[in-house]
Amino acid sequence: MKRLLRTLGGEAVWPPPVWLMRQAGRYLPEYRAVRAGVKDFVALCTTPHLAAEVTLQPIRRYGFDAAILFSDILMLPWALGHGLEFKEGEGPVLPKLRDAAAVAALDPARVADRVEPIMETVRLVRAGLLTEGFGDTTLIGFAGAPFTVACYMVEGGGSKDFAAVRGMAYSQPEVFGRLMDVLTDASVEYLSAQVTAGAEALMLFDSWAGVLSPALFRKHCVAPAKRIVAALKARHPGIPLIGFPRLAGVMSRDYAATGVDGIGVDTGSDIAAIAAMLPPRMAVQGNLDPLALVAGGSALRDETMPILDAMRGRPFIFNLGHGIVPQTPPDHVSALLEMVRAG
Ligand code: CP3
Repeated sequence: MKRLLRTLGGEAVWPPPVWLMRQAGRYLPEYRAVRAGVKDFVALCTTPHLAAEVTLQPIRRYGFDAAILFSDILMLPWALGHGLEFKEGEGPVLPKLRDAAAVAALDPARVADRVEPIMETVRLVRAGLLTEGFGDTTLIGFAGAPFTVACYMVEGGGSKDFAAVRGMAYSQPEVFGRLMDVLTDASVEYLSAQVTAGAEALMLFDSWAGVLSPALFRKHCVAPAKRIVAALKARHPGIPLIGFPRLAGVMSRDYAATGVDGIGVDTGSDIAAIAAMLPPRMAVQGNLDPLALVAGGSALRDETMPILDAMRGRPFIFNLGHGIVPQTPPDHVSALLEMVRAG
């Protein structure tokens, strides 16, 4: 079985499998070359041969243990008919969803058709991994968790404190609950289609889970994740899932009870402390600071070695604690891989 899948199955594979969040992206010249040839980011995500190409680029360069489908968490709201634009230097811009009518306007019936190019990407990547000789590389599919996707839909983009979405959860609980239900059901269909197309493991990105109070975290992060995991495991027995409740701290323990097989740990958390709260056979993924990877040299070594030392002997997937940043020198990634592979 593939190294990453064995790890998600509860085995302490060593040296640990390694991949990096946002491993396909602007720090790679070959990505920038493909990106320069398309109209915008959404066009890249919906052009299967190009999305498959950029998914495979970091695998060819580094031989990571996992390829992650090249797409974005905001492609699901896009598929539901909500607007989405990526503005140069500004990040995503969406219409601000603030009332019942906007929730009612979302159209789950159109999702399957609109995500079909993304499913074709999954098929092309699975085939490409085999024909290019990456037989031990696991293809990870993903979605944004309902709360994190709702953050961008309600705010209309990124935000410092996500005050609008938190306010809506308190002051319009019914409307917000309906939005969460629509996103939860759509996530199940979207992730299930990825498995049918060839994804071998799934990751649920809950990047803003940590902005919620404990009670709302349980309601809007833990409960939907539990529904998503149960539905996917019922349809695809044995499909492993990684949950990433970013900034959730000690609440990661509650997230682990959703039935996921692995928990992603963010940069600011003590990975040994989080691991100690989880069942011993549950995989832990993380959590190098992306800025240590930019710095390289002794800073990179001093941040990497303690993570490896703390995780030795338990199921562990080496990763960053958040996505790679564009200013990362590509040769620092090679240096990191050497360290991780030396165990
Ligand atoms: O390599 C991979 O990890 C796979 C592809 C992937 C992307 N985004 C590509 C991308 C994945 C898994 C994501 C997840 C994602 N997208 C998250 C969750 C993880 C996290 O970072 O917290 C979130 C919150 C988003 C939303 C998003 N997409 C933002 C806020 C931005 C703008 C910021 C930026 O880096 O530009 C994006 C754009 C985006 N998604 C890019 C890439 C490669 C850059 C766009 C470009 O190339 O012009």
